[in-house]
Amino acid sequence: MKFNYKTFDELQRDIQRLGLSIPFGEDLSCLRTEIKANRGIIPNRLATHPMEGCDGLDDGSPGELTFRRYERFAAGGAGLIWLEAVAVTPLGRSNAHQVMITEENVDRFRELVDRIRTVAQETHGHNPYIVIQLTHSGRFGVNKKIVSHYDVLDKKAGLPADFPVMTDEELDELAELYIKAAHLSYKAGFDCVDVKACHRYLLSELLASHLRDGKYGGSYENRTRFFKDVIGTIKNEVDIDLAVRINAYDAIAYPYGWGTDSEGNPALEEPKRFVQELENLGVGLFNITASTPYLLPHITRPYDQAGKFGYEPPEHQLVGVARLLNLAREIQRHIPDSVVVGTGYSWLRHFAPQVAAGVVEQGWAKVIGFGRTAFAYPDFARDILTKGEMDRSKACITCTKCAELKGAGKITGCVVRDPEIYVTPYRELMAEWAAKES
Ligand SMILES: Cc1cc2nc3c(=O)[nH]c(=O)nc-3n(C[C@H](O)[C@H](O)[C@H](O)COP(=O)(O)O)c2cc1C
Repeated sequence: MKFNYKTFDELQRDIQRLGLSIPFGEDLSCLRTEIKANRGIIPNRLATHPMEGCDGLDDGSPGELTFRRYERFAAGGAGLIWLEAVAVTPLGRSNAHQVMITEENVDRFRELVDRIRTVAQETHGHNPYIVIQLTHSGRFGVNKKIVSHYDVLDKKAGLPADFPVMTDEELDELAELYIKAAHLSYKAGFDCVDVKACHRYLLSELLASHLRDGKYGGSYENRTRFFKDVIGTIKNEVDIDLAVRINAYDAIAYPYGWGTDSEGNPALEEPKRFVQELENLGVGLFNITASTPYLLPHITRPYDQAGKFGYEPPEHQLVGVARLLNLAREIQRHIPDSVVVGTGYSWLRHFAPQVAAGVVEQGWAKVIGFGRTAFAYPDFARDILTKGEMDRSKACITCTKCAELKGAGKITGCVVRDPEIYVTPYRELMAEWAAKES
């Protein structure tokens, strides 16, 4: 089913017909209220999710287009700006242009943070809460690294069954790099650091490493050890708030998935225990997502068009939206004192604000994040908060072109709504594919 609702009533009728649980609210004023997160204040309930733009410079520092993206997000008015995945080591970059924070380029990140604050102050008179997402891209990076095998993903990446897994010693060294990156993030002026635990990048894979030997594999204690050690050390050493973007479940069957049963359905006992333990360690902000776009993109980001290497979604997109919303609800209810950011709103286009208001009113999540929408329509928050609506002609149409650009490591943004910049790389990409096929 493609998005073709003309009125909110039509959308609601489908929600009912499918027997789904998706809240909505007419009154959007709850989205204008501020909320405390960790030691900071998020000035409204809307967030831009982390969205990789593949436009960093060779040394990892933010490039011209990276500045442009965050200036647009800041001017757009979201109270929480969650920076995209930033590599902690060259070996963990997703592509040659993924941003990466280092001793040498930390001042450029400082300039980026200052620029976000200045633009938001000038445009909205508020201070957005700014999170940096630290990552190692693992098997999806330029230098493929894995912490455990999963034949389906191994085959996709062309990895043989005997491809070496990172040793415990290598992971110990990586932990030091995360801690160093957290120190640098503080130096750059970020409010908060996210130790990314989602989408089956390296540390997300570690959470699912039931079959790994040694101190980081097997038992729940071992699989969560890296996180707890890193987060505990950052808490002790660095004066910065803590966040985690985490898969509520991988949608990959146990023993290869995290938060799943042997059929790949959600089994949230461990994720709930984990977020509780992280909260006890001082993490006050969680961003809930699921699965991996490299295998099951319809679960991570419900879409209308699959893109060249995708597949038609095997379910109604509203089922996917409802799944993401309900996962956030489960986690938010489990850790009511923390701030949970919900995911999965872009497919709803200009009807997302009513759902966002319903979710916040009913306490399913405290902040609502937008990913592809932020690329397509960076002013979405301003329009929701000041006009009480989104402009349907500016909304993301979930065409997957941004994901195709990212997958190819090209500068990434909205091909449809921001064509001056992103049509050219998309045309190049299509020409490259055509050349390969001929
Ligand atoms: C092009 C692209 C880049 C993304 N980059 C990141 C990222 O850096 N970190 C992350 O956690 N998620 C990333 N995501 C996932 C989004 O943050 C978000 O979870 C997903 O798009 C679903 O939200 P939406 O329906 O509002 O788009 C990316 C998604 C896309 C399509």
